[in-house]
Amino acid sequence: MDLKIHGQANADLPSAYRKVLVPWAVQGGLNPPVITHAKGCHFFDRDGKRYLDLASGYVAVSLGHGHPKVVRAIQEQAERMCWVASSYFNDVRAEYAELLNSISPWREGLRVHFACGGAEANDDAIKIARQITRRPKVLTAYRSYHGGTIGASSMTGVDRWRDPFPALPGMIKFFAPYPYRSPFFSTDPAEETRRALQHLEQVLSHEGAQNFAAILMEPMTGSSGVVVYPPGYLEGVRALCDRHGILLVFDEIMTGFGRAGAAFAATRLQVMPDLISFAKGASASYTPLGGVLVRESIARHFDTMLFDVGHTHAGHVLAVAGGLAALKVYLEEGLFERALQIEDWLRAGLAELQAKHPVVGDVRGMGALFALELVRDRVSREPLVAWHHPGGSAPMRTFYGALLARGVHAYGRYNVTIVAPPLVISKSELDEGLEGLDAALGALEASL
Ligand SMILES: Cc1ncc(COP(=O)(O)O)c(C=O)c1O
Repeated sequence: MDLKIHGQANADLPSAYRKVLVPWAVQGGLNPPVITHAKGCHFFDRDGKRYLDLASGYVAVSLGHGHPKVVRAIQEQAERMCWVASSYFNDVRAEYAELLNSISPWREGLRVHFACGGAEANDDAIKIARQITRRPKVLTAYRSYHGGTIGASSMTGVDRWRDPFPALPGMIKFFAPYPYRSPFFSTDPAEETRRALQHLEQVLSHEGAQNFAAILMEPMTGSSGVVVYPPGYLEGVRALCDRHGILLVFDEIMTGFGRAGAAFAATRLQVMPDLISFAKGASASYTPLGGVLVRESIARHFDTMLFDVGHTHAGHVLAVAGGLAALKVYLEEGLFERALQIEDWLRAGLAELQAKHPVVGDVRGMGALFALELVRDRVSREPLVAWHHPGGSAPMRTFYGALLARGVHAYGRYNVTIVAPPLVISKSELDEGLEGLDAALGALEASL
């Protein structure tokens, strides 16, 4: 068994890999391509087959692969120093924090706490909120995804049934708007906003608003459905937080760093939280980096109070150097604004697919983060596959299989597939991806 074989046909390689790897999937019979290298918006398997990455990996590789400026910065930093304890000040961390201040959604400025990824950042955001408010409870939405640690999966609202263990004590859920399938039986966006806010107020009143440290939510949801909230909803949540002394945390792990068409979704939507958790696009996945942006007036609490949150690799200098270089590239190449151009392309291209394919029930999104919700019937909106279908379903396997055969990568959950290309994608590359989607939707419909 030689696991180091690259670029040569070896039929046994997948079964050899299956014996030693534990990927995020049902593993028996798993036979994905063996990916060996990547460049720009494409990655390649060991046979040299090219795949267009229409989902930026897990909606994170926003600069595409192998950007020379980021690669060089990481190489140089590795030679200088990879790590120093977070109790020391460090020039790279400080330069990054200053640059983050230049894109801060808050006029008052921000301070940065580092973590190694998204789930850890959300866990830390809750610790910060609890330390400041000295309150125990946290509210998060059903149909949300906040990460895989015990803390973040307790916050996560989707697939709650799958974990045989209860969420951590104090992690309370509410229903947020979902205009395409309203949990409030509403028929228009204004009614959805009004009823969703009434529901949230009731949850707060039954659970005791004075017990809540934070409401933590994605400003638009990501892998749990790419739901864009109707006008006025987030403003209403902000007002409820203000009324009850609750901190508002935006999980911008997916929406941050240009994905929603601005530096942060908070900036684009003009609703200001108190803390923002970030990861993914921050370093465009060149290094494992996450963290929490804390608005200045909140961060000041820790001038006289112990900030009791930390990890060995939090603020890992190599990881931060990747983030700093990535942010410089985002700004130099105007990629946050470019997401708005991609938004126009996606709106038009995905609307064409919807017009052509009856299986496409809804197209929604913002910036360079869109989704197709697939249905059996457009009038009844019956989902193509049940929302709670474990381990994948035959129709979606057909769809993703056809897409991969065409050399296009995308992913999603149940009947919702995400379209979130790198922010550097060209129009012709995007058209190549849309053609792949067109063919895969055709194959799916033919199989039904
Ligand atoms: C909105 C959101 N929050 C948190 C996470 C968890 O991030 P990580 O996988 O880096 O722990 C994700 C990952 O998909 C996410 O989309």
